[in-house]
Formats: sequence, C-alpha cells, structure tokens
Amino acid sequence: MNLLNPFYTQVDFKNGTFEPYEKKSKHYLSDLQGFFYFNDSLQEELKKEDRLVYEVYAREVPLEEGHLLHCITKIYPGDVGGEFFMTKGHFHQKIENAELYLCTSGKGLLNMQGVNGESSYIEMTRGVWSYIPPGWAHRTINIDDNTPFVFISVWPADSGYNYDKVLEEGFNKIFVKKANKEGYRIIVGK
Ligand code: F6R
Ligand code: ZN
Repeated sequence: MNLLNPFYTQVDFKNGTFEPYEKKSKHYLSDLQGFFYFNDSLQEELKKEDRLVYEVYAREVPLEEGHLLHCITKIYPGDVGGEFFMTKGHFHQKIENAELYLCTSGKGLLNMQGVNGESSYIEMTRGVWSYIPPGWAHRTINIDDNTPFVFISVWPADSGYNYDKVLEEGFNKIFVKKANKEGYRIIVGK
C-alpha cells in the first residue's frame, strides 16, 4: 500500500472558500442548460448576461476506494424566472455511495430524489450537517436573495457522477421564490 501523506485544509468561513485547493470550477448559467425547469426564462436570461451561479473548490485525492473527496461549494444568490440558483444535481455513478454536506453559511435547501422518484429535502443553515444516503440524487439551492449559500461535502473518492439521469428526469420538486416576499414555495415538476 502506498501511503499518502496526511494533510489539512484551512476553511475560510467568512468568504466561503478554503485553501489550498487543487481544483476550482466555476459554473455559469450557460453550463446549466437543461437543468432549470423554467427553460424559457433561462434562455431570456442568457440573452442578457451569463451569470456566475456557483463555484467549487476541491482537494485532490486518488479516485480510489478508501479515499475521501472533499470540497466547498458556494452558490450565489439569484434566480431564473423565480427558480433559485442551484447546482446541477447528480446521482453518484456508484449509486451505493453516500455523502455528507455541512452548511457553513447562508441559507439553502438540499433537494434529494430517490431512484424511483421518492422525494425529500432538508433546510440548510450554518451547522446543519446532512446525510445523503446511497441511491439519492442531490441538488443544493440558495434560497436567500442576498447572501451566498456555502457548504462542505465529503464523499467516497470512487463515486463518480451521473448527471444524465437528472437531465432526463428532472427533480419532481422545484423551489421558487415567493412573489415579493422572503422564502420559497414548491411547485411540482416533471
Ligand atoms: C460531490 C457533490 C458536491 C457537488 C457540488 C457541485 O459528489 O455532491 O461536491 O459536486 O456541490 O454540484 P454538482 O456536481 O451537482 O454540479
Ligand atoms: Zn454527490
């Protein structure tokens, strides 16, 4: 067995980032084609501006069983036709792999959907540590109009991603802004 040297990461709770990181990815509205329920609104929005929706800072470990990937995700405030800014959402390719999300700041939702369309969600605020069991697709949503929603993820390094099933089937709960008010309401999607 080749031993990897132990290491640590410094979380910046104020800025919703950490250091060091080996990978940083930025996801714009144009990268989320097909993921928003209000697709017409997305196309309208894209004619105006391709806004930054979320960014992910990640540590690198071997993508092998036994290792744990970990990253921090920062979702900016915003919406597309009322549908809050969110991550794409995915099943793990290795569907039996679970994941942990710990919210470090902001206000969000963890929307989950089982393989047979079962639905569940958790409200995430600082300190809420959520368990995504095996078999659940997971998407996070920023429901605050002014502040980024930030959370840390830890998951088995051999999990992989399956975005296609989410693209094909969508999530059956869609979270949208309340008109002229704080908070969210749920509409039933596909
Ligand atoms: C990894 C995981 C998170 C997300 C990240 C971005 O398994 O669930 O680290 O990858 O929050 O979301 P997606 O990957 O859905 O764009
Ligand atoms: Zn995941």
